[in-house]
Amino acid sequence: MAETMQGLHRTARCAEIGKESIGQEVTLMGWVQKSRNKGGIVFVDLRDRSGVMQLIFENGSIDEAGFEKAGKLRSEFVIAAIGTVEARSGAVNKNLPTGEIEIRVRKLRILAESETPPFPIEENSKTKEELRLKHRYLDLRRPDLQRNLMMRSQVTSLTRKFFTEEGFLEIETPMLTKSTPEGARDYLVPSRVHPGAFYALPQSPQIFKQLLMCSGYDRYFQVARCFRDEDLRADRQPEFTQIDLEMSFVDVDDVIDVNERLLAQLFREILQIEIPLPIQRMTWQEAMDRFGSDKPDLRFGMELKDVTQTVKDCGFGVFKGAIEQGGSVRGVNAEGMGTMPRKKIDKLVDFAKDFGAKGLAYAAIAEDGSVKSSFAKFMTEEEMDALVQAMAGKPGDLLLFAADQNKVVWDVLGNLRLELARQQELLNKEEYRFVWITEFPLLEWSQEENRYTAMHHPFTMPMEEDLDLLDTDPGKVRAKAYDIVLNGTELGGGSVRIHQNHIQEKMFQVLGFSKEEAYEQFGFLLHAFQYGVPPHAGLAYGLDRMVMLMAGEDSIRDVIAFPKIKDASDLMAEAPGTVSSLQLEELQIAVTKRE
Ligand code: AMO
Ligand code: AMP
Repeated sequence: MAETMQGLHRTARCAEIGKESIGQEVTLMGWVQKSRNKGGIVFVDLRDRSGVMQLIFENGSIDEAGFEKAGKLRSEFVIAAIGTVEARSGAVNKNLPTGEIEIRVRKLRILAESETPPFPIEENSKTKEELRLKHRYLDLRRPDLQRNLMMRSQVTSLTRKFFTEEGFLEIETPMLTKSTPEGARDYLVPSRVHPGAFYALPQSPQIFKQLLMCSGYDRYFQVARCFRDEDLRADRQPEFTQIDLEMSFVDVDDVIDVNERLLAQLFREILQIEIPLPIQRMTWQEAMDRFGSDKPDLRFGMELKDVTQTVKDCGFGVFKGAIEQGGSVRGVNAEGMGTMPRKKIDKLVDFAKDFGAKGLAYAAIAEDGSVKSSFAKFMTEEEMDALVQAMAGKPGDLLLFAADQNKVVWDVLGNLRLELARQQELLNKEEYRFVWITEFPLLEWSQEENRYTAMHHPFTMPMEEDLDLLDTDPGKVRAKAYDIVLNGTELGGGSVRIHQNHIQEKMFQVLGFSKEEAYEQFGFLLHAFQYGVPPHAGLAYGLDRMVMLMAGEDSIRDVIAFPKIKDASDLMAEAPGTVSSLQLEELQIAVTKRE
């Protein structure tokens, strides 16, 4: 039967005890990881969030009743043990920080018994994620997840300390609010008091933090929960956390400076890694041209090469056609992969097609310099030579080409480059390559809507030198926006905001909003800006992504206590769920299901 805490006080966590404590009496509490009964002696591995400690129960050092109790311990029982720290009598376990000591227990209390768990509580679990998420409270006992969540707590507490010392104020913004313009679908909350009206959960605190600047708070930060109803991926959850900040009287360099120092401090204190400052900066254009991505992974090369000029007059219709349509031909040199079997190349072609390619042309250079290619028959020898040379192809290399509109070519080759790096195991998890991507295009042409949309959001300031282009060639305007990218993941992003009415009006005009529409959506912000708004800029990090990369995990699910799965449901809480008809009635909501 389970006992209570009466009179007991925990003196330390398991792994907080070391050799220096030998001879001392301690009281430990935790979960039985495993127990082995060897006749006159029982060994128990006791686990808490700090680690594991070996307990030893020997008939004689503990009374008869206690020894009998120890014999009944099973995995995941919760116990309290009072005993003396001793040097290990048996083999020393070099793999454990506490491997040289053990606790000789003189008193045992069973605080809770446990059913046999549905899966073993162990590091690097092989259990299917669905089962683990259904019993997340057990999954969270695993040492790797515990380390991740402890690291996450460290990141937020250090961040708070850093920003506070830099003169930032932590201010909360509402969860029940109006739609915020981050481009995803909103999560809506029906209002009971205003039937038929809905709050939107914030996609970010964007508008509110800008209002705080307008109100004179000057430097704001928040560890903010954000909600976006979008398709989930390994680095996307419907609710996630931002480290969000905004600053007044600043320009791009001021924001970058304070954030580089934050990143350096986090990596130094948590991972003992020095990030060399300043962090490299790259324009969006350069990132796309060299890496086919606005979040380039700089841990390996295999850069894209633009061979449009080289092949523009060649005999290969696919290349020529794409160029005539205003597109380009670009390639990557997969060095040393020239012997890749045909089947594997075909898989790469399929991979490229998943990203919108119509095909993937290849040329493998044999050791004798001869070229085996899917399009050689359309090219003269000179044309092929020129192409190989443009790609710096050597014997043993595999050249891969995409021909299409720039956007497609970048996307295909950018992703292909990553896929090849994965196949070649070029991605070192212990290397951290940061880069700021700057000078993003302000606008993106939307084929569906037949208008420009904001690449970041409608409050992003155009680069001063491009302002005139807003009238003449809006697609060419660059923004004062920046993303911080780490190892191919967008960690965070932000921008200088428009604080001048005439530019904001022009921006809405270019985006195709009438004045009325703009006021309807963002009226309170636009009104506020009529009363003296300072120049301001800011940024938001995805906290989950930051911790994921710091912890060396592949999914943000592994750094979120209670994450959701791909279809946005919580397997443990069984959310979302239906509600009672009474609740629906109160909200004056009727549910109809589409056929
Ligand atoms: P943005 O939309 O780029 O900018 O978001 C900032 C960062 O938040 C993270 N993030 C996500 N993380 C997990 N799951 C998601 N679904 C998800 N969506 C975004 C990313 C991203 O870089 N208000 C602006 C910031 C600003 O301009 O100050 C904003 O929200 O790491
Ligand atoms: P085809 O003439 O269609 O057999 O194509 C010859 C080669 O060109 C094949 O290897 C195709 O995969 C490739 N290919 C087709 N379309 C493209 C494209 N848009 N970009 C690059 N390669 C392509």
